[in-house]
Amino acid sequence: GAALGKPRKMCILPPLALLCLWLTAPYAAAREVRYKSGDPVMLYVNKVGPYHNPQETYHYYKLPVCAPQQIVHKSLSLGEVLDGDRMAESVYKIEFRRNMEREPLCEQKLSVSQVEELRQAIEELYYFEFVLDDIPIRGFVGYMEESGFLPHTHKIGLWAHLDFNIEYNDDRIIFANVSVRDVKPFSLDDVREPLSLTHTYSVRWFPTNVAYEKRGDRLRDSSFFPKSLEIHWLSIINSMVLVFLLLGFVVIILMRVLKSDLARYNLDEEGADDMDQGDNGWKIIHTDVFRFPPYRSLLCAILGVGTQFLALGTGIIVMVLLGLFNVHRHGAINSAAILLYALTCCVAGYVSSHFYKQMGGDRWVWNIVLTTSLFSAPFFLTWSVVNSVHWANGSTQALPATTILLLLTVWLLVGFPLTVIGGIFGKNRAGNFEAPCRTKNIAREIPPQPWYKSAPVHMAIGGFLPFSAISVELYYIFATIWGREQYTLYGILFIVFAILLSVGACISVALTYFQLSGEDYLWWWRSVMSTGSTGVFIFLYSVFYYWRRSNMSGVVQSVEFFGYSFLTAYIFFLMLGTVSFIASLRFIRYIYVNLKMD
Ligand SMILES: *[C@@H]1O[C@H](CO)[C@@H](O)[C@H](O)[C@H]1NC(C)=O
Repeated sequence: GAALGKPRKMCILPPLALLCLWLTAPYAAAREVRYKSGDPVMLYVNKVGPYHNPQETYHYYKLPVCAPQQIVHKSLSLGEVLDGDRMAESVYKIEFRRNMEREPLCEQKLSVSQVEELRQAIEELYYFEFVLDDIPIRGFVGYMEESGFLPHTHKIGLWAHLDFNIEYNDDRIIFANVSVRDVKPFSLDDVREPLSLTHTYSVRWFPTNVAYEKRGDRLRDSSFFPKSLEIHWLSIINSMVLVFLLLGFVVIILMRVLKSDLARYNLDEEGADDMDQGDNGWKIIHTDVFRFPPYRSLLCAILGVGTQFLALGTGIIVMVLLGLFNVHRHGAINSAAILLYALTCCVAGYVSSHFYKQMGGDRWVWNIVLTTSLFSAPFFLTWSVVNSVHWANGSTQALPATTILLLLTVWLLVGFPLTVIGGIFGKNRAGNFEAPCRTKNIAREIPPQPWYKSAPVHMAIGGFLPFSAISVELYYIFATIWGREQYTLYGILFIVFAILLSVGACISVALTYFQLSGEDYLWWWRSVMSTGSTGVFIFLYSVFYYWRRSNMSGVVQSVEFFGYSFLTAYIFFLMLGTVSFIASLRFIRYIYVNLKMD
């Protein structure tokens, strides 16, 4: 097996190494800059967008603002591009440690339609983002005041002056922000003819003794966006207590029931007279319970990709915990996730073809194709729709063609070959299925089942319990990704992930036991579905979040939100379905091994 795999592995290594370098270089390189007094400090303009729609951003120069004759763009790392950054040089002239007061920036003539454009943006609470020495500086474009019920007044003003405050330590910049505290907004109300205005700015330098290495913390402590995610310990403890009670309950009950079942069955065996009396239960189906299910290839592909995401999720959380990311820019996580996804494709291939071989499958190519496309096809479809909408609206979140090509290359040169290699290894390493009981040729008839043992009921129970264990946390995660909150309790995230998986496994074992005790042996697909349905609950929650808990609006943001919520729900389906199946399989092996056979 290894001999078959090795040469292929060798030829994939060089492009892989190159890619790693390319992806990580922008983060590894120290971009630290030292200045002398009077050195120019470049301020880049980045993006603007509605405050409540984090994934809808536009190029700063799309608005009628002070712009240079020739727009000069800055080259960006992959993470920055994925994050919707599009930096360009600004017309602000800032010099290191030189204070400036009311410096004119530019004279602007605004037509009526341009004023209308600005008013529109201010009404949608547009904020802007500049970047100075890698520090994001954010502020609102304008000012809006609504007051009085009758008569209703509606005032809109533009910030035509900005105060920059920059903190420095010796020869390095530590912190920067922009404030409009002492500024009067320039009114844009009742404009009927073109108007001209002068933009101005001030720069104030403050010495500080915060070390350069600590500037990330300084940034996090005084962010433009609110920081309100600290006080949910109680709800976490609450859900943890609930979960432990639940788990304890399931484990204890199952242990007792199993013990008495086993005692009874194994006793029956010796005094074989009262056979027909006590024998209805899971023992009687031992000749059917290991009969392989239909659609094996699909089942194995789900297990493969599910395992891959379990590894990926754990990997990312651990990396964030170890502080390997520059967390105040999301892009770092995005590009690391893409790289890790490509690298973990071998896990998917391995697990999928391993199970497929054990279940006696022989359509290898089909199995591998199914495994590679099980996630990448839905992802690509969703992404194309979302990207087209961004592109049609001129949002900077639309990926440029070069980035798309790069991502495709990553998938073609790394993801797909690694799936194939994993598949070859998995197939060659796989042995027998090692079922503890022999399967008879003729399948037993399954007696009619009561309604509470039907698949929809099991799916409702098996989906709701894991979901309720994480529902509180889900709010914070959604608020971080789709809102402006900042999540910093990554340790909690890890605990919640562990809780989710263990609740899923326990529920799955309990439901499988109930199913088998009704002499229904079709547990393979049922176990995947019953806990995998957590994904459905997560999608329903995301609909609830959109309508009730967020201020998102507009086509661009909605398409992005629902597209990626669907993918998230799908990933949860794959992960929990896998955990659930493997837990059930281990459980079933365990109980039938302990059964004394004739
Ligand atoms: C900006 O930074 C200055 C100097 O550190 C500080 O005094 C001020 O409160 C900050 N303003 C805002 C709006 O954060």
